[in-house]
Amino acid sequence: MIKKPMLSASSSNELSQLHQARIGEAADIVRAGGTVAFPTETVYGLGADVSNPAAIEKIYTIKQRPTDHPLIVHIGDISQLSYWAENIPESAWTLAHHFWPGPLTLVLQRSSRILDCVTGGQPTVGLRMPAHPTALALLNALGPEKALAAPSANRFGRISPTTAEHVQQELGSNVDLILDGGACEVGLESTIISFHDRLPQILRPGGITASSLETALQGPFILASANPVVRTSGSLSSHYAPVTPLQIHSTELIGRHASALGAQHLRVMVMTWSKIDVTPFCTHASVKFHSMPADPILYGRQLYATLRQFDQAGFDYLLAEAPPDHSDWLAIADRLQRASNH
Ligand code: TXA
Ligand code: MG
Repeated sequence: MIKKPMLSASSSNELSQLHQARIGEAADIVRAGGTVAFPTETVYGLGADVSNPAAIEKIYTIKQRPTDHPLIVHIGDISQLSYWAENIPESAWTLAHHFWPGPLTLVLQRSSRILDCVTGGQPTVGLRMPAHPTALALLNALGPEKALAAPSANRFGRISPTTAEHVQQELGSNVDLILDGGACEVGLESTIISFHDRLPQILRPGGITASSLETALQGPFILASANPVVRTSGSLSSHYAPVTPLQIHSTELIGRHASALGAQHLRVMVMTWSKIDVTPFCTHASVKFHSMPADPILYGRQLYATLRQFDQAGFDYLLAEAPPDHSDWLAIADRLQRASNH
């Protein structure tokens, strides 16, 4: 298939005619069994026709991902939920109506239309309706009986891309088309909910906070511990990882750790979110500091792009200040933890 250049979208929500034409091209590529990287509000996805086993195989090959790790299926409308899933609990409908389109993935009993290769043979399927005009336009162009199987558009275990340039760096010409929809607004992957015994539990914290879920369902949520039966790659202890070793340290100790590394002439980047005074620890020229937002939404939006930037800058260590112990920071704490497990 001919490799096409990336397409830039205008910053407005209105899709330009040119962009719409390219979305049409992307839909043609998907119908023909190719792969398309597309923006969502969380991270960029690497999409292919969910009903085409050869296209699904391409996703696993491009990502270098083990084939028993299931893919999320992206749909263009809530009404398509019952086309791809069965035996849907009432609470799943409530969450879908409340948060879709949005950064929430529902793991449900799969319908017979879902192929084994999409779910790694598991009886469930992860479904999500993304909130990005380009993603929705692509899904609508494909029609109501098509859906996009799409993991994040990065190589397995690496940081998810939040811009089209990141996708280009990660996957290059292996993907048939990259649609550029600007920087992702959420910046972290979707929250994944499963319904074990019809009770909702969080498999992966993400773009929707536990407190918003509790408000929507008027009840507490269980944060599932890693389930050895279900292969959730985002639940592997090492994932979303930069190449540079990353350490997490408390607000009190991070400066001292940075200093100790600097004394060994190691190049260190320290990411803080609080307004701690780090100047006493800045005695070594090889230690740099970067201030992240103290707001979890803004921090989450910037995290992957920042990690990627510092990863490419050739530091010996990245040090992150431990995030606040508050449920709104759960997804950030989770990603930093996995990024630090080398
Ligand atoms: O925000 C997101 O969710 C992004 C965008 C592109 O939608 N997608 C994403 O996909 O993060 P991926 O493949 O990188 O991560 C999806 C996670 C994986 O850890 C996968 O194992 C899990 O979802 N998953 C998918 N289907 C599942 C299922 N049936 N049961 C349990 N986990 C599932
Ligand atoms: Mg991923």
